[in-house]
Amino acid sequence: MDMEADRDTFLLAVGGGITTDIGAFTASIYFRGVDFALVPTTLLSQVDAAIGGKNGVNLDGYKNVLGVIRQPSFTLICPQFLKTLPQSDIKGGLAEMLKTLILKDREGYCKAASLLKRGYTLDELAPYISRAAAIKAQIVESDQFEIGDRKLLNLGHTFAHAIEKESGIPHGEAVAIGIVLAARLSVKLRILASQEANTIEEDFIKIGLETKSPLKPELLFSSMKRDKKRSGDSISFILIERIGKCVIYPVQIARLEEALYDLS
Ligand SMILES: NC(=O)c1ccc[n+]([C@@H]2O[C@H](COP(=O)([O-])OP(=O)(O)OC[C@H]3O[C@@H](n4cnc5c(N)ncnc54)[C@H](O)[C@@H]3O)[C@@H](O)[C@H]2O)c1
Repeated sequence: MDMEADRDTFLLAVGGGITTDIGAFTASIYFRGVDFALVPTTLLSQVDAAIGGKNGVNLDGYKNVLGVIRQPSFTLICPQFLKTLPQSDIKGGLAEMLKTLILKDREGYCKAASLLKRGYTLDELAPYISRAAAIKAQIVESDQFEIGDRKLLNLGHTFAHAIEKESGIPHGEAVAIGIVLAARLSVKLRILASQEANTIEEDFIKIGLETKSPLKPELLFSSMKRDKKRSGDSISFILIERIGKCVIYPVQIARLEEALYDLS
């Protein structure tokens, strides 16, 4: 208001996921919505937060309580911003990037993992950032309101939310652990070959991502059973059939409890 922004104002949000979320949310509600665009500057925002039109902010410490779904005019992704990003933030973004490749692109995942294991330049990383962003954009385009395929983007997140909440470790690290646990659960339920789960875990270890839950199985279970994706006596998980193909799969609470003792 102080800057005399009116209905024709165009808002450009440049920054990490927090900035793009707040910028996009503000633009979406100001004068019932002004045009906006996003320039994400962290890896996590380039492959995830700035794509998909979910624009939310927290309220009284509760995540994304206020929010809208509204798409930007454009999202400009420039990997050179990542030059100054701390390694801990890079790791969080890598977990989300690899997650998206595991969902839909086996070859992309294998190539990205081998690059990350041997060390890389930003120019070498750029095609995988672009690929992960494109896959997320495609999924969102086909299912903006998360009725079907968009749910796949939650791979590893049911584990991750519980781990994050109970241990306080950063979201990206928790997502990496969550993906490995989802792979192990997929093997237990005979959906995924154990060799594929080993590949993911070994890749993540060599890349420097966390793979082991810091929580005792009973704490992990008690936190997970309160997950919002619970419906009656089962929780809807995203499980891996093979690298490049994932499915939505309801798992009985009792079966989950039993499996967690073997996985942790
Ligand atoms: N809207 C969505 O769909 C969606 C999806 C995933 C995550 N999110 C949200 O994204 C947020 C996390 O995003 P994030 O990981 O980008 O965190 P962030 O926005 O907090 O940025 C991390 C840190 O990096 C700094 N930074 C940003 N760009 C930099 C650069 N180029 N060089 C050096 N430092 C830089 C920031 O100032 C900040 O201190 C969370 O609030 C999460 O809820 C939203």
